Amino acid sequence: MCGIVGYVGYRKVVPVLLHGLQRLEYRGYDSAGIAVLDSEKKKIVVEKQVGKIKDLQEHLWGKDINGNIGIAHTRWATHGPPSIENAHPHTSQKDEFAVVHNGIIENYAQLKEELIKKGYVFKSQTDTEVVAHLLEEYYQDNLLNTVLKVAKMIEGAYAIGIISTLEPDKIVALRKGSPLIVGLGENENFIASDIPAVLEYTKKFITLDDEEIAVITKDKVEIYNIKGEKVEKKPFTVNWDIAAAEKGGYKHFMLKEIYEQPKTITDTISGFFSDLNNPVYKEMKNIESIVIIACGTSYHAGLVGKFWIEKYAKIPVIVDYASEFRYRDFPVNEKTLVIAISQSGETADTRFAAIDAKKKGAKVLSIVNVVGSSLSRESDFVIYTYCGPEIGVAATKTFTAQLVTLFLFAVKSGFERGYISQEDFEKIHHDVNSLPSLVNEVLKEDKNIENISYKYHNAKDFLFLGRGINYPIAFEGALKLKEISYIHAEGYPAGEMKHGPIALIDETLPVVCIIPKDSLYEKMISNIQEVKARKGIVIAVTDSEDKEVVSLSDNIIKIPSVKNENLYPILSVIPLQLLAYHIATILGKDVDQPRNLAKTVTVE
Ligand code: G6P
Repeated sequence: MCGIVGYVGYRKVVPVLLHGLQRLEYRGYDSAGIAVLDSEKKKIVVEKQVGKIKDLQEHLWGKDINGNIGIAHTRWATHGPPSIENAHPHTSQKDEFAVVHNGIIENYAQLKEELIKKGYVFKSQTDTEVVAHLLEEYYQDNLLNTVLKVAKMIEGAYAIGIISTLEPDKIVALRKGSPLIVGLGENENFIASDIPAVLEYTKKFITLDDEEIAVITKDKVEIYNIKGEKVEKKPFTVNWDIAAAEKGGYKHFMLKEIYEQPKTITDTISGFFSDLNNPVYKEMKNIESIVIIACGTSYHAGLVGKFWIEKYAKIPVIVDYASEFRYRDFPVNEKTLVIAISQSGETADTRFAAIDAKKKGAKVLSIVNVVGSSLSRESDFVIYTYCGPEIGVAATKTFTAQLVTLFLFAVKSGFERGYISQEDFEKIHHDVNSLPSLVNEVLKEDKNIENISYKYHNAKDFLFLGRGINYPIAFEGALKLKEISYIHAEGYPAGEMKHGPIALIDETLPVVCIIPKDSLYEKMISNIQEVKARKGIVIAVTDSEDKEVVSLSDNIIKIPSVKNENLYPILSVIPLQLLAYHIATILGKDVDQPRNLAKTVTVE
């Protein structure tokens, strides 16, 4: 994780770096720092602070740092606790090189030992500092050549930005395993871990591939491979609006992103239908089994997707945590489709599991939000969700977009395999088109959900229950609450409750029950009765107005009815996002940047 940003151009560099860091803060936020080539003092000025970007900003107030070239970093600690010493950028012994790094240098201990023997004194406990010293040790007269040499010595995953007083007109950046983009401007250029960091200056980008090195001056960007050969890269343009990376009047990104869902669902539906010639659909006739791999919220989307794919495309599906799938011997062949779901397209576990599966002969389809991300480029096929940047660490709008995509993918695959007629396909398309306005209906429950949150925000535990296609939504509701409010929560398939969690129920336990009027409604009523019989507090998420639900529930959150009951998960998750949001804000938690978490986990 960690976020890096760099600038070379005509602007004063400090504000550019700070803006960039603010937009990358979701990647890690335990310390931050900048290194600037000060044009007057002719040296590298480094400033760091423990805490968030605003702490660094306060620390920099009144400091006169002049320069038009610099690099910066926001950290999520891996090697060494958050401290000024361990914060990036790291400098070499003679302060001729400054380095920012996202990833892990796996062989740093051995390199460090060798450098110490040569007389280098280490100031931090990080793996990164070895890179700064290696550059100093091996520099002769050319920074690119030195970086090429050092790149061959370091092992692991990294995105690195380097500046040097010895070649003060450039940034050199290299990448292996961790994301890095180059932003292209007029008389200015950028590097960053992610597009939003520099979106206010440019919409034109190049993505660095693994083992590529960029040499960036204010009017030129040159890319080289690890052999030192020049590589031609085609720039791409994003149509993301800078407003998409700002709060736009909402108190938190998370709330804004929850409210964006009618739009992101609309955009994802149209994106899907403009991509019906995606070659993956032709492949679907040959596919005999599907494995869905993902982490966190994306994994929950996969659990729901299984229901849809098995129903419409009639292909058996298993869903696995990417971090687990990678380390077991699961047999795959060319008739296996591995679907890797990832908002960022950079989650290390998901990427490496997908790469391994591809090596073993499976076809890989990725469902990704970030255009040009590593996973999207490593897959055989890709379907994008169209959410724009998601800044809140807890995923919301990208989850519903993943669901919509999986649903449409299942139906389209069923059509290609001959299980769904053109007429049915169109009918289902029509049902899906009703989703944005139904989501708007759900959002009207916001005030009611806030009131419910006031009643139960002091609870120590929560239980979330759902059945059938809605049980993964119970998992997601529990995850959202845990992530941002730090209240212990468990999600369970309601039918399984009697085999354990029922022991937890007493008059202090709020139990959120997802009970749409679908084919499992009666079964769910019985489960709620079991909760009530043990004095649990029932919060029902339902479109039913039946007496039974009303009398069994202490609180009701209304969702609208939907013609196709398979679509309920896309509606039923939204109240759970709002419930987690309100409980966390009432408790005074930082909902956009919850403790210990990071949005993009690029370490295993
Ligand atoms: C982190 C984030 C989660 C996200 C998960 C997977 O844990 O905090 O919100 O669901 O990573 O991320 P991905 O980008 O692969 O969907």
